[in-house]
Amino acid sequence: MTAKRSLLSGFGGYLPERIVTNDELATWLDTSDEWIRARTGIAQRHMAGEGDTAVSMAAQAARQALDYAGARPDDVDAVIVATSTPDQAFPSTAVRVQAELGMTGGFGFDLAAACSGFIYALSMADSLIRSGQARSALVIGSEVYSRILDKSDRGTYVLFGDGAGAVYLTSTDEAGEAGILSTHLHSDGRYGDLLFVDGATGQHDKPAHLRMNGREVFRHAVGKLSSSVDEVLAANGLTHADVNWLVPHQANLRIIDGVARKLALPPERVVVTVDRHANTSAASIPLALNEAVRDGRINRGDLVLMEALGGGLTWGSALARL
Ligand code: ACO
Repeated sequence: MTAKRSLLSGFGGYLPERIVTNDELATWLDTSDEWIRARTGIAQRHMAGEGDTAVSMAAQAARQALDYAGARPDDVDAVIVATSTPDQAFPSTAVRVQAELGMTGGFGFDLAAACSGFIYALSMADSLIRSGQARSALVIGSEVYSRILDKSDRGTYVLFGDGAGAVYLTSTDEAGEAGILSTHLHSDGRYGDLLFVDGATGQHDKPAHLRMNGREVFRHAVGKLSSSVDEVLAANGLTHADVNWLVPHQANLRIIDGVARKLALPPERVVVTVDRHANTSAASIPLALNEAVRDGRINRGDLVLMEALGGGLTWGSALARL
């Protein structure tokens, strides 16, 4: 018997039906398809409709992940939802998801680490499984950023989209190479004002909006993500050449390309969804994973590198063999 580790056993995703193209934004916002594509790689985004909430989208993605693994809601020990846009301050999105799925046991909680939320949640779930506190976990990112965007700020409105992604982790102590190899987390609150939401629960007279110093965030992103990628590979005695797939947080094609160049990974080894999903914050990595597993690009045995940076600043990386 070897030590416990976490297998990625199921994958799921949900995107709202409504697609908003750059051209549609340009009908009422002082922007253009050309500007948005050139600076970000984004062509369109999905936006939540009346019935889409952080809970409903998370539950849809979770159901898919369980189906993929052939598991039932009662098999799940832990539900962790990474979100910066919960429907309510409490109860957590996670316990609402438990109820939506019909779970009668286990435990759930939300985690806030902005765009790095999925890497943080994956790390927490992996720790619960390695320590034996949980035998399985749903790790979900679910975001409705359209509800915190300032419609008068073209510098941020065009960058984000809504959606949810989920991964189902199960515990194994059998010999083998598959599973999460390691996760690495960082934050530095001195940069809290580079990307933030200017309000909190209870300020009914003033809706809260996302604010960002895009240039500064960009500058930090490429450097911090590159060192995070080096860190996770070194921790596992691996090199850039061992990586089969980069599944990065999808903020901006220029940031993704910058990290891929550092890894000397050709574009066909990088999963990109930012063109169609825009930045879905904590949902972006599990949505991209789900897409690439289901369309047959990522296969069992592949070494997958994930990385993200977001408000906090928070950043981190994870390496897994499928
Ligand atoms: N359409 C047209 N023009 C625009 C738009 C827009 N949507 N937004 C800004 N502009 C204008 C500005 O007003 C400015 O005009 P000016 O020169 O007349 O003043 C000009 O474009 C340049 O603005 P900058 O903000 O300097 O543009 P920049 O080249 O830095 O690109 C961007 C902006 C795309 C946001 C870039 O800074 C970036 O990608 N930053 C990373 C931030 C990010 O991705 N954040 C997501 C969350 S964090 C994360 O997930 C990593």
